[in-house]
Amino acid sequence: MEVIILSSPEKVYKEVSQRIIAAINKKPDTVLGLATGQTMLGIYQEIIAAYNKEDVGFSSVVTFNLDEYLGIAPNDPRSFRYYMEENLFKHININIKNINIPSSIPENVEEECEKYEEKIKQKGGIDLQLLGIGRDGHIGFNEPSSSLLARTRVKTLTEETLRDNFGEGQCPRFAITVGTGTILEAKEIILVALGEHKARAIAQTVEGPVSASCPASALQLHPKVKVIIDESASKLLKRKDYYAWVWEHKKEVNDLKLITPIPGPEYRKE
Ligand code: GLP
Repeated sequence: MEVIILSSPEKVYKEVSQRIIAAINKKPDTVLGLATGQTMLGIYQEIIAAYNKEDVGFSSVVTFNLDEYLGIAPNDPRSFRYYMEENLFKHININIKNINIPSSIPENVEEECEKYEEKIKQKGGIDLQLLGIGRDGHIGFNEPSSSLLARTRVKTLTEETLRDNFGEGQCPRFAITVGTGTILEAKEIILVALGEHKARAIAQTVEGPVSASCPASALQLHPKVKVIIDESASKLLKRKDYYAWVWEHKKEVNDLKLITPIPGPEYRKE
C-alpha cells in the first residue's frame, strides 16, 4: 500500500482526479470502478473541469458503480443513479451504454447480481477502482463481518451507515454491492478518505490486521493500492513519518545516482 497524506481536501481532489485523467489518457477505453458519497464530489468536479478544458474525454470509457440501494426509483434523489447523473455523467461525454450501476428495482435480485459480475468480466475487469470508506471501514457496501472474498450480492446496511447517508429521514435498508472479492480483482485501486471521522477506519485499514471487522483492510492483500487522504484522516496512523518520507523521496528511484563509494575488495568476475 502506498499512503499519500496531503495537507487539504482540495489537494486530495487534485491528486486523485489527475491520476484518473492520466489513466484515461493512456487507455481511452479504461474500465473505471466508481464510488459515491461526499468524498467523491470534489474529485468529480475536478474531472468535469478537466473535461471542459478538453484535457480528457470519456467517449470510450466504461464505468461500473460499486453499489445501489434497493427499492428506490432510479431518479429518486436518494439513489446512486441520481447522484452519478447529477454529479458526473450529465456533465461529460460518456456513452449511456457504457454506464453500469446495479438496478435499484431488479425483477430478480440474484440474477441482477450475477449479471453485474458477468458484465465486469466481459469488459475485461476493472482497470482502476475508486473507493471511499465508511466510518466502520466498509468499502462499497461491504459492512463489517462481510466475507473478504464476497462477490456482488445484497447487503443489509448498518444503522450507522444509514444515519451517515440519510440522517433521520426515511431510507432503504438494503443495497446491492460488488463484493470485497470483486474489488480485489481490480488492476489498480485508489482509496480516498477525508476528515477526522475517518481516521479510525484508515488506521485499521492500513495498519490493522486483515480482518472482516474492517473490510477495507483486505486491500492490504492487493499489490497496487494507493490510499490518498488528508491530514485529519491520517491522525491515528503510527507510521505517518515513513509514509511522508516515501512520498518525498520515491521519485528519486528513477534517477539513481551512485552514492560516494567506500573502497572495498575486488570481486571475481565471470
Ligand atoms: C457510502 C458508499 C461508499 C462510500 C461511503 C462514504 O456508504 N456506499 O462507497 O465510500 O458512503 O461516504 P462519504 O464519502 O460520504 O463519507
